[in-house]
Amino acid sequence: MLKQKITKCLFPAAGYGTRFLPATKAIPKEMLPVLTKPLLQYGVEEAISAGLDTMAIVTGRGKRAIEDHFDRSYELEHQIDGTSKENLMSEIRGIVNNCKFSYTRQVEMKGLGHAILTGETLIGDEPFAVILADDLCDNDSDEAVLTQMIKLYDKYRCSIVAVEEIPREDSSKYGVIAGDVIEDRILRVADMVEKPDPKDAPSNLAIIGRYILTPDIFEILKDTKAGKGGEIQITDALLTQAKAGNVIAYKFKGKRFDCGSVDGFVEATNYFYSKEK
Ligand code: UTP
Repeated sequence: MLKQKITKCLFPAAGYGTRFLPATKAIPKEMLPVLTKPLLQYGVEEAISAGLDTMAIVTGRGKRAIEDHFDRSYELEHQIDGTSKENLMSEIRGIVNNCKFSYTRQVEMKGLGHAILTGETLIGDEPFAVILADDLCDNDSDEAVLTQMIKLYDKYRCSIVAVEEIPREDSSKYGVIAGDVIEDRILRVADMVEKPDPKDAPSNLAIIGRYILTPDIFEILKDTKAGKGGEIQITDALLTQAKAGNVIAYKFKGKRFDCGSVDGFVEATNYFYSKEK
């Protein structure tokens, strides 16, 4: 019997972030700031707003800044307490005080599927959310993307992928799904392909960095061979679940910025800057 309530969010954050070299030589990509906040903090805030309180982070070598960020910084806090800058730390203080963080390291970067499997030790036998922090999502008025997905999980009790319509020529950057519409914005996934050639893409619906996964995904991942790019792909493991009718694709409401690319990162920065002004 699957646990009723999702409380844990997994953040695969072990990738090298080569598109941001040299910035990512010593700084994790997930710590690059959009305005003054690191990408990963946006992701953690989204998870909190969806009612989750346990953040499980898969890191790798050179990613210690992540652990330091989600911790107390006594010297700095002492320095700014009582000054006009104190409020700059209030959000992160709230996060550190109210959430549990756990970490594990992916020793070899063998792909997103492998990173998720590495997180099994932090998640255990329960359904969980996954956020790729380099996909930055925002909603002006509606609920956060993960909140929308958690509500869907309560109804469908199966794995869920967030999807977005993309120009066909971009297919080779994404996992692309095909399926039957079962409700407004919701499809039952029948097929999914990782980074297809545009001519082979089964649709124009691409998976973005938000997932709800049921824990059987771990056993499936253990049997999943390296696929596209020699990496263990989450898309390949999800296809096994999809063939049993156990994956829903959700056309989320909101905006998504691909902050793993320089263009997307600049776009996000401009968007959040104009929103703040
Ligand atoms: P990307 O495909 O964006 O790869 O990973 P990357 O290595 O981070 O960046 P580039 O392409 O070299 O610039 C998508 C997500 O999966 C995580 C990344 O940290 C990112 O959040 N990931 C990827 C892992 O945790 N481990 C891996 O082996 C691969």
